Amino acid sequence: MNGHEPRIIAFFCNFCSYLAADMAGVSRIQYPPNVRIIRLMCTGRLSPLYILEAFARGADGVLVAGCHPGDCHFIKGNLYARRRVSMLKKLLEMMGIDPRRLRLEWVSASEGNKLANVIKEFVEEVRSLGANPLKEVNA
Ligand code: FES
Repeated sequence: MNGHEPRIIAFFCNFCSYLAADMAGVSRIQYPPNVRIIRLMCTGRLSPLYILEAFARGADGVLVAGCHPGDCHFIKGNLYARRRVSMLKKLLEMMGIDPRRLRLEWVSASEGNKLANVIKEFVEEVRSLGANPLKEVNA
């Protein structure tokens, strides 16, 4: 461990992952406080620009979590999000940013435990990658 505390921006769907975070809180399931949650009405509403902006502003990692395939309230929003995240991972790699800094997960409203585990695992992974290299460029 290098003592670096990662800052992670999380985009959560209102109908599933955001409720899972709420359930984790109500059930007193702990997860690291490194995550700043932004609620979306659907991951399909997540513009790739929001993710790039998060990295440009120094986020060390971005976590996107939405409804399981087949459960999206807008039918295909999560599938569009999956396609965008996959495309962005390639773009990040070309920009010299490790694509592991961006992760997409499916987490339903009843999966508070899963969400806490995903956050713990992601924080550890991003911590092992060190600080966002764009921080040095912007410093
Ligand atoms: Fe949850 Fe679309 S409504 S991902």
